[in-house]
Amino acid sequence: MKRVITALLAVCLTIAASVASEAAITAVRVGSDIKRVSYNSAIWKKAKFSDILLYPQTTIKMNDEKANGLNAENSVIRARAAAIYNGRDIAFMVRWPDDTVSVQRGDSLTSYPDGFAIMFAMDYSNPYKLPYIGMGSEGRPVVIHLQKAVRPFYEPNGHGDVYMQMNRNQTELFGKSLLRFDKRVKKLGSSDYERSFVSEGFRSMTEIKDGSNRSYARLSYRNKAWTGTLSCPMSDDYVNLHAGAIPVAFAVWDGAKMGRGGLKNLSGWLSVKLEDSAEGDMLINALDERSPGNPSVGKVAVAINGCAGCHQIESSDTPNFMGPALSNIGGYATEAYIRESLVDPSAVVVPGHNRNAHSAYKWYTEEGGRRVSTMTDYSKLDEKTINDIVAYLQTLKAKEE
Ligand code: HEC
Repeated sequence: MKRVITALLAVCLTIAASVASEAAITAVRVGSDIKRVSYNSAIWKKAKFSDILLYPQTTIKMNDEKANGLNAENSVIRARAAAIYNGRDIAFMVRWPDDTVSVQRGDSLTSYPDGFAIMFAMDYSNPYKLPYIGMGSEGRPVVIHLQKAVRPFYEPNGHGDVYMQMNRNQTELFGKSLLRFDKRVKKLGSSDYERSFVSEGFRSMTEIKDGSNRSYARLSYRNKAWTGTLSCPMSDDYVNLHAGAIPVAFAVWDGAKMGRGGLKNLSGWLSVKLEDSAEGDMLINALDERSPGNPSVGKVAVAINGCAGCHQIESSDTPNFMGPALSNIGGYATEAYIRESLVDPSAVVVPGHNRNAHSAYKWYTEEGGRRVSTMTDYSKLDEKTINDIVAYLQTLKAKEE
């Protein structure tokens, strides 16, 4: 009897542990068509919303004083996210606070829009080797769906190609038809920016334009918050989301803070559990993993091993061009990723090196067509020290205000 109780207790504890997952969203199965759901679809009443945390991406130091100033004090954004699926399609909603509306204007190069992105891993068969969270990395590609707040525009072929848009200065060519045209723009104009990309790191984004990627993203602002939705097929030429749980990451941009490439708030990989599947625990556990080490011992080990020579460690330390800033690494990186960075630095090479930094500060070199990290290989450290360092790095993240 005692043994049965112990076994039962163990089962209960396991269930409690998996329910308590920090990084999991439960996708609710629905019966209806969700090919084109939007923020005002009634179907979201069935969804289960979870809090997710979006950390300031501090990887690279921008070469822009104003942007650096606006983003110096960034804290965590607490957002709400949910997912629904019907076996053919899957849809996501993310709602995040933002005090100001920033809309992209075609006539300005210095206006930055608010927006959001949802990212999928193209291969997540090994949850300990997921793509780099900042837009994937060489050999570990991701698919990114992006929607930004844009001013209504009209262009004839519907692909969003700017060069196809009407040049307003050519009044002699278009004459009165320009007035008629303006009326039509008002009626037909779209404020839809949506784009999908395959990406293997910053500056390697390839837009999916072959028509194979049917997705539908919408954005709406109400009560000082944005709501973004995305519907997409569960499998297409790029991703296969038929699994017990899938890794998904969310990012948001704040135009008022000049948010753009390299400057945004992002989650780590979160597991989206498909509710009618019994599988997916391996991913959920991998994303929840905490190092068994001791963070305060790890902090000392980081000082001893000279990490600060190349990295800005805490946000109060001086920024550094030698390597990425680690002040939010515990917010957006998994345990496995941080560990791998130490013992096999070239497995994932952070590609976002500031172009304007001195050439002596290269984050990687090219050897035989492969990127090789310039970071010291720490695989020589003993396991306990590695555990302690990883435990410390997992504590490095911005606090909520
Ligand atoms: C000689 C300079 C140098 C030293 C010393 C160094 N690093 Fe790095 N580190 C880098 C560079 C450059 C990168 C970016 C290229 C890459 O991904 O390997 C990096 C990347 C990382 C990353 C991944 C960051 C991200 O945003 O994904 C982590 C984590 C990291 N280092 C931790 C450490 C720790 C902890 C130490 C000390 C035990 C350390 N580094 C020592 C240069 C260094």
